[in-house]
Amino acid sequence: MPVETISWKNVRVRYIDQTMLPQKLKYVDCDDVRRLWNAIKNLEIRGAPAIGIAGALGVILGVKDSKAKSFDEFFEGMERVIKFLASSRPTAINLFWALDRMECVAKENSDKPIAEIKKILLKEALKIIAEDKKSCRAMARYGARLVKKGDAILTHCNAGGLATADYGTALGVLFEAKRQGKAIKAYVDETRPLLQGARLTTWELLNEGIDTTLICDNMAASLMANGKIDKIFVGADRIAQNGDTANKIGTYNLAILAKHHNVLFYVVAPLSSFDFRLKSGADIPIEERDGNEVRMILGKQIAPSKVKVYNPAFDVTPNEYITAIITEEGIFRKPYKKSLERLNAIKRYR
Ligand code: MRU
Repeated sequence: MPVETISWKNVRVRYIDQTMLPQKLKYVDCDDVRRLWNAIKNLEIRGAPAIGIAGALGVILGVKDSKAKSFDEFFEGMERVIKFLASSRPTAINLFWALDRMECVAKENSDKPIAEIKKILLKEALKIIAEDKKSCRAMARYGARLVKKGDAILTHCNAGGLATADYGTALGVLFEAKRQGKAIKAYVDETRPLLQGARLTTWELLNEGIDTTLICDNMAASLMANGKIDKIFVGADRIAQNGDTANKIGTYNLAILAKHHNVLFYVVAPLSSFDFRLKSGADIPIEERDGNEVRMILGKQIAPSKVKVYNPAFDVTPNEYITAIITEEGIFRKPYKKSLERLNAIKRYR
């Protein structure tokens, strides 16, 4: 069973502080939007769908004490909260998607009393959580069709339950394959600089009883050259209309290696991770993070404090390297420009 990564409990956001894992499973009860902003920024809450959920719940925290007397006054305050939350991390589209949803729901109900609007907003945030749970299961079922008994699967960063409200995206596929009785072997990149693979993904896989091997990021080529990897499954933070995919830095390296070694390379992501306004990955904003994340490992300095650092948190994998994109609406293949049109239509209709 997946852990409850983020939820709404007793008028607070309850979340797992992922910076403490795997040593400590610590839940935080947060009732302050500034604290929640920090939790997103510092990766206490992380992973694209979970960031989206945090955004929606953050809106609730930000407006719950509003004393506004008119809708305009209430909405002005809510817009400030949304702008603030949107400034936490730029790459995962799920955050902006969730904030947009909250904004639309408020506007659609502008004729109602403020107390009623607050209730409707909470209902919408809880709906986002419920939908995420459902999509995780659907993606897992579609993805598991691509997994054979005995497959050795490599994954990068953490696209598991800790990154969503439920089963995860890429890891959900592994969990479902295991549930279906397919014995698989998982290889996990440690994922420098913040080690989401080493700290979080191995923890989740071991909890589910999956045969798991941790490798350093620079070992993937050697494993593929030695025929040790059959398939790669990764998540996504933002996918453009042509299928170009932003995900954790190092994903692009894996995609190139996969192509060279004829390893199948799959992206698993819900509809909320697609940005159909963007023609290609070139337009995806890439977050650059503090240099100390590279100069240090888990708080211990490993490089001179004065050395210059370049620390992009994500890279973009061009669509031609992606074998298929698995969503809750099915499996999409090349040419993505065409196949993803159907997905765009479904997203617009919702
Ligand atoms: O910086 P992070 O840890 O938030 O990055 C997370 C990733 O890159 C995940 O692979 C992505 O969000 C997909 S999560 C289902």
